[in-house]
Amino acid sequence: MPDKSFRVFATCDIGQPALEILRQRGYQLEVYPDADPPPKSLIIEKVKSGVDGLITTLRDKIDAEVFAAGNGHLKVVAQLAVGFDNINRADANVHKVPFTNTADVLTEATAEFAFFTMAAAARRLWTAEKLVREQKWGTWHPFLPFLGDEVTGKTVAIIGTGRIGLAMIKKCSGFDMDILCYDAAYQNKDYIAAIQRVMDLRFDTDIQKQRTTIRYVDLQEALSFSDFISIHVPLIREGEGGTPTHHLINDKTLRWMKPTAYLVNTSRGPVVDEVAIAQALKGKRLGGAALDVFEKEPLPSDSPLRDPAIEDTCRLYPHFASAGRITRLDPHPDKGMAGRCVQGLIDVLEKNYGGDIQQMPYVVNKEAFKRD
Ligand code: GLV
Repeated sequence: MPDKSFRVFATCDIGQPALEILRQRGYQLEVYPDADPPPKSLIIEKVKSGVDGLITTLRDKIDAEVFAAGNGHLKVVAQLAVGFDNINRADANVHKVPFTNTADVLTEATAEFAFFTMAAAARRLWTAEKLVREQKWGTWHPFLPFLGDEVTGKTVAIIGTGRIGLAMIKKCSGFDMDILCYDAAYQNKDYIAAIQRVMDLRFDTDIQKQRTTIRYVDLQEALSFSDFISIHVPLIREGEGGTPTHHLINDKTLRWMKPTAYLVNTSRGPVVDEVAIAQALKGKRLGGAALDVFEKEPLPSDSPLRDPAIEDTCRLYPHFASAGRITRLDPHPDKGMAGRCVQGLIDVLEKNYGGDIQQMPYVVNKEAFKRD
């Protein structure tokens, strides 16, 4: 192993197998020991003290203050997440610090979680189990005390057709669903055409009884005609470039949805207006919601989403979609977020790819390193 004495501060324990890779390479590694994130002042202090690399999570705000503190010596920020709205890209670019993320390795885990929570909300699994646990299961009955809604054969809207949206499409197509896609930024027409061919083959060979379709539509059509709506867009605030997604789901767009529709959000909390969702559930203008991400995390005790009046229709999860053992911790960069995170860090610090940041697969802000 090469002896590299790079100094790295990790704001969180990302698991021993991946951290061991850095230790074995001779890195001086300091890992913040608490489960809660370090205060920003501590991150700044560590950066000022001369670390070469930072390992961050989505809980750490990495902006101009942090980059300025690292001026001249901070060489890389390696984020353990696919989303990076906590890292100010413009500030990173001003200071010419590459940052990496862990796309791809969490795609399937996140999509399956979106699918499972969608189905669990519709079939009322939580309410049904509560019935048994609270000794309120009287007898078997055709429709009492309640029924759920099937997923198979229904229509789903996929809002955002990046990696995770496409993986969700793949899973939904296996449940004979019609699929309406919306993406303001990028339309993967080849993938959608391939799914249509699979749908046609399943129908032609009698694997599914009804013919199903998939197509891109506008947001209003997607929301208006779907039984399920699953959100897979990145958080883009006004002025950040690209089409903003902040509060994409709000009082107005919620009113486009069927009153029986279920909304699933595994993207970022601020993409939906939580007050509007709570009101829609309370007013029975929305059938149910399954939310894994929130405007403020952890979810505050006074959140309107905790209103007991909507307890049965509002499922709440602790930003858990990628929380599979392999997905989170595997040290291989093609399997685990931890492995991809340390590989992104190593690529930059050890000048892999001939030191050409443009070629480094996990660097996000490549635009700051364009050669003239
Ligand atoms: C999780 O939300 C992630 O961005 O990886």
